[in-house]
Amino acid sequence: MSETTKVGIINYKNKLRMKNYIQAPLPFQGQKRRFLNEFKEALKGFKCAPMFVDLFGGSGLLAHTVKQMYPDADVVYNDFDDYHLRIANIERTNALLAQFRIILQDAPVDKVISKEGKERILKAIKQEEKLSGYVDYVTISSSLLFSMKYVMNYDDMAKQTMYNVVRINPYEPANDYLLGVEVVKMDYRQLFDRWKHIPGVVFLVDPPYLSTDCTTYSNYWKLANYLDVLQVLKGTSYFYFTSNKSNIIELTDWIEKNLGGENPFSGATKKEVNARMNHNAGYVDIMLYKRQK
Ligand SMILES: C[S@@+](CC[C@H](N)C(=O)[O-])C[C@H]1O[C@@H](n2cnc3c(N)ncnc32)[C@H](O)[C@@H]1O
Repeated sequence: MSETTKVGIINYKNKLRMKNYIQAPLPFQGQKRRFLNEFKEALKGFKCAPMFVDLFGGSGLLAHTVKQMYPDADVVYNDFDDYHLRIANIERTNALLAQFRIILQDAPVDKVISKEGKERILKAIKQEEKLSGYVDYVTISSSLLFSMKYVMNYDDMAKQTMYNVVRINPYEPANDYLLGVEVVKMDYRQLFDRWKHIPGVVFLVDPPYLSTDCTTYSNYWKLANYLDVLQVLKGTSYFYFTSNKSNIIELTDWIEKNLGGENPFSGATKKEVNARMNHNAGYVDIMLYKRQK
């Protein structure tokens, strides 16, 4: 696990100039954008909470949304994947994408990129990495690889078949996205231990999905890891996110009914949103929340 790192609070002086994002500024697999309306609605019941801690921050979209709604609350965002660095490098990423557009100006859209085109693109990436020391592989993946496929480094990129799916417009700068939010990076258990005794704190708990593709996350989650997370729900105020694919609710119900175990979701409110992958496959995203009196 990574070392405890306090990245810092992104200062905000003028609340009125903060833009309200309805999706993360850069691609992020698993961001909760489809749940934002339900999340905002449910947040209305947490008006007096002094602090929100996003244990599995991902793209920071939930932390951003809370800060927008409650600017005076303390909001901590656990940026396990260094998403804030991707945001800070948007200009650099746009410059690289602009180079791709020039290289591919005569290449057919949505089609496989020729060997020569791929070599030129790889050269541009290598050069950028050498010059600036930073390449946002996740973002450029979404302009070069087939739908939802991501790589995290140059060697993996070089192995891929590339497609001309380069985004037409540059990404908008997003310097205001994390304003006022405290950015930290550590294992969620460490973060939870740090804040669990604070009265009124609300934990946002959106762990990596079980049995979905987690290639862009920093590590891989097994069932035991997934079950461990339930411990942070004991006696706390929380928002917990899962999907019907994980069967976690069925499992906790069964344990309660048949083994008399404690169910961390008892008394929680449940909301569901249908997610469609293609026209004959889908799943249900689930949000459960509970406020301790
Ligand atoms: C489902 S995503 C969260 C998505 C986020 N709610 C959003 O809207 O973008 C889960 C996140 O947990 C991170 N993660 C994985 N292991 C972790 C750990 N041990 N502690 C904290 N975060 C972890 C992953 O890297 C990933 O960013």
